[in-house]
Amino acid sequence: MATRVFFYFLLLSLVITGGYSETTFNYVNQCTDPVWTAASPSIEDAMPEKDPGNLYIFYTPDVWTGSIWARTKCTTNASFYFSCETGDCGTGEEDCQGPPPTYPVTLLNFDINQAVVTYEVSLNRGYNNLPVRIQPVGGSLLDGSGPCPVVDCIQDLSNVCPASLVAKNKDGWQVGCFSACDGLKDPKFCCTGAFSGPACQPNQYSQSFKQLCGLAHTYPTDNNPPIYKCNGATAYNITFCPI
Ligand SMILES: *[C@@H]1O[C@H](CO)[C@@H](O)[C@H](O)[C@H]1NC(C)=O
Ligand SMILES: *[C@@H]1O[C@H](CO)[C@@H](O)[C@H](O)[C@H]1NC(C)=O
Repeated sequence: MATRVFFYFLLLSLVITGGYSETTFNYVNQCTDPVWTAASPSIEDAMPEKDPGNLYIFYTPDVWTGSIWARTKCTTNASFYFSCETGDCGTGEEDCQGPPPTYPVTLLNFDINQAVVTYEVSLNRGYNNLPVRIQPVGGSLLDGSGPCPVVDCIQDLSNVCPASLVAKNKDGWQVGCFSACDGLKDPKFCCTGAFSGPACQPNQYSQSFKQLCGLAHTYPTDNNPPIYKCNGATAYNITFCPI
């Protein structure tokens, strides 16, 4: 009996560590304009443009830790240089996976290790006026406390963005809101130096983000809600402009 159980365990391990992940990112863009996803480090998504209304299914790497974000209002100029109003990577290429984005941008952070995936929506590098949601499909929290919850930031933060943190495009329109760390460059908000570790606290700016986007992380050590660790979800539905 024990031998047979062990045999099945072996078989199962083989299936699980087979090399290709069974987990997908299902992207749906419900905004009125296209967005261009990007990832750092590269996740090798060869089709960054996500047009409104379509479903884009992307098989995730087995093991990957990084950020995904959506670039907005992208154009190619007369010398074929591709750039975006927010989330630009500065390479001039549509497929600019790899480099980190210019801020402000809302980040979807993932830590993928086979079936176990940590996920969060982070406003630590600001917000680029684009509502986002991560909805795990199936799975349960690794600590056994229940199903894997939705995280998102779907409220418009532009109204609570103080003038000192407003990001504008070249025509002067507000296109995003810097985090206090990036906008004010104060170690207190960045939680560096004397403000690292337990000394890192919410601040007036992170709190105004939090009021509208309670499920997102708003300062470096924000752990409310905790960073969820989900086991066995078949997909992570990533929706832009979910409402
Ligand atoms: C296109 O953009 C790039 C990068 O900003 C710039 O160097 C180049 O001169 C632009 N080309 C035209 C025709 O405007
Ligand atoms: C996830 O996305 C797929 C494809 O759009 C959809 O069929 C499914 O209902 C979604 N599941 C959840 C839990 O949102």
